[in-house]
Amino acid sequence: MTSGTTNGNATLTITRPDDWHLHLRDDDLMAAVLPWTTRCFARAVIMPNLKPPVTTAAAAAAYYERILDALHPDVDFTPLMTLYLTDAMKPAEIERAKAQGFVVAAKLYPAGATTNSEAGVTDLRRARPLFEALAACGLPLLVHGEVTDPDVDVFDREAVFIERHLRLLLDDVPDLKVVLEHVTTRQAVAFVEQGPPTLAATITAHHLLLNRGAMFQGGLNPHLYCLPVLKREEHRQALVAAATGGSPRFFLGTDSAPHARTAKESGCGCAGIFSAPVAIEVYASVFEQAGALDRLEGFCGRHGPLFYGLPFNRGTLTLERRPFRVPAVVPAGTAGDLVPLAAGSSLDWSLVQPAARLVRED
Ligand code: NCD
Ligand code: ZN
Repeated sequence: MTSGTTNGNATLTITRPDDWHLHLRDDDLMAAVLPWTTRCFARAVIMPNLKPPVTTAAAAAAYYERILDALHPDVDFTPLMTLYLTDAMKPAEIERAKAQGFVVAAKLYPAGATTNSEAGVTDLRRARPLFEALAACGLPLLVHGEVTDPDVDVFDREAVFIERHLRLLLDDVPDLKVVLEHVTTRQAVAFVEQGPPTLAATITAHHLLLNRGAMFQGGLNPHLYCLPVLKREEHRQALVAAATGGSPRFFLGTDSAPHARTAKESGCGCAGIFSAPVAIEVYASVFEQAGALDRLEGFCGRHGPLFYGLPFNRGTLTLERRPFRVPAVVPAGTAGDLVPLAAGSSLDWSLVQPAARLVRED
């Protein structure tokens, strides 16, 4: 990491970061959102909750090809693919996916927990052969850690998942690498900090930036509704402490999850925040406010590769302390308009985009 100044503004140059949790979608929507990720991130872990979900090695390969086809030929970006676990999946599917080389993890959605999770796992105990297959081939399990029990309050679903399921899962398959995705509570932070070295967590930009009050500020803000839902201020502060504290167990995962404006501003708005257009700028602002800019590089570009056993990126990314006006709307062609996180507001850090740095160097 190097600091400097350009035109009197502070600059920060870090190893080019990765996004360890991204919803890239498909078709026109993918084409529209992909440049917002590739402008910044060198690699991203691509979530498999398409319709239909990516439940086979062959489907992961086809999706991988569609992403490569959608990339501008000069852009240096590597999609890291995932497999969506189901009750019906056989361990051999995991071995087939691993053998392809570009599948880096499997995703556990408790059935019904979030967007397009209906085909997910209904009983974690029955999925144990899948977890063992993952451990045997060294692929991490990425967990959407919320119970689906309707008797559990929506704000408590993560903490209850940890107690009811995650503890048992880690005990049952101790060799399995597990990422608790998009942690939102102080309970999750404490659990990850005290857990085995095989356990890590991603943290989103929006959960670092906002508490649940933001959803109701001046009226109901559907664009701030996501799952796991935003939590109280005490939890946000625990997340900031975890992200900025330097522990390699926490790393960047935006969970950028675009939905058309009409699907968000609806009688039953769907869950997901489109943060790719502002994510790195928000992370930089949060780290600066915490007095921890020197730890931004570890969180964004080191801890993830260390956990996944992948090399660090060779390129760099430069941020500048100059106001960044967030677009109010991002058009997505036939997929409709998208409203990004922090739409219409101004952030403290901007991306300096030397196009040459974002294209292949080999
Ligand atoms: C995600 C989506 O829209 O696919 N939504 C969200 O609120 N985060 C699914 C998910 O990651 O839970
Ligand atoms: Zn997600």
